[in-house]
Amino acid sequence: MAYKYTLRRRGADKHTLYQLAVQDPSFEVELATRQYRRRRGVPPRILREDFCGTAAVACRWVEEHKENRAIGIDLDEATLGWAREHNLSKLDDASRVDLRQRDVRGLTRPRADVVQAFNFSAYTIYPFPALVSYLRLVRRSLNPGGIVMLDGYGGWEAGQAVSDRRKVKSPDGTFGYVWEQATFNPIDNLATCHIHFEFRNNKTWQKAFSYVWRLYTPAEFRDALEAAGFLNVEILWDFEDHAKRSDFRATSEAENCAGWLFYAIAESPLAPGSATS
Ligand SMILES: C[S@@+](CC[C@H](N)C(=O)[O-])C[C@H]1O[C@@H](n2cnc3c(N)ncnc32)[C@H](O)[C@@H]1O
Repeated sequence: MAYKYTLRRRGADKHTLYQLAVQDPSFEVELATRQYRRRRGVPPRILREDFCGTAAVACRWVEEHKENRAIGIDLDEATLGWAREHNLSKLDDASRVDLRQRDVRGLTRPRADVVQAFNFSAYTIYPFPALVSYLRLVRRSLNPGGIVMLDGYGGWEAGQAVSDRRKVKSPDGTFGYVWEQATFNPIDNLATCHIHFEFRNNKTWQKAFSYVWRLYTPAEFRDALEAAGFLNVEILWDFEDHAKRSDFRATSEAENCAGWLFYAIAESPLAPGSATS
């Protein structure tokens, strides 16, 4: 479908466009809080946002409650700098967000109640044994009974070269968000994906973001989480209502379709020492 946009290409900031088009930090904070509270009976206080990028979720987390603290981890210093300048600077108390430039594959302290790796970021860790090693380190960075949350996508279109375009509203005008899965290799399940942006007068920002990642299935995430010592793995599936509003609920069975999204959630053992490696 062809759209007309009003936002100008000149002066557009790719992180701002990404946040507007892709992220919903309020939803992610609410989901994490609800999932943790259901299991532990109390609200979580410490979030570790892995692959945090602009730390949008970490910032929303500390706004949620005055005792909330967040650790944001990302490899890219420039993106973390953007996060400090544009997101942390808007907080009343930015000292409760601790941004760390490092690889997510390491132990962190203080232990977190929730570790989130969203927008398919765990897909960047492959092959499978590397994913298990990462998740083992996540478990050892969590408090007993803490939860890890991953997300993913699939469906028969996920095995094809496809692109999907939508119009996004911003305070300064409308722009186009294009998600392109450029290649998919069924032998190793590696996909090359790009995000492009479109503007007024047919101007574009091609490959504003690019990723090479492995499309793990819900079953593979479950296997990896269990191999890493997590318990009570649940797959949340989107049972959209008639108005196409998302409604993620735990299930062990679902119908395949052209495209679907899921969350995988699991708990670190309550008793220290019950998973030792
Ligand atoms: C898909 S973006 C995710 C951004 C944001 N968290 C979101 O939910 O939209 C991936 C981010 O992960 C970072 N990254 C990739 N591999 C990493 C690693 N091994 N450790 C830490 N950060 C990594 C990149 O620098 C990039 O900012």
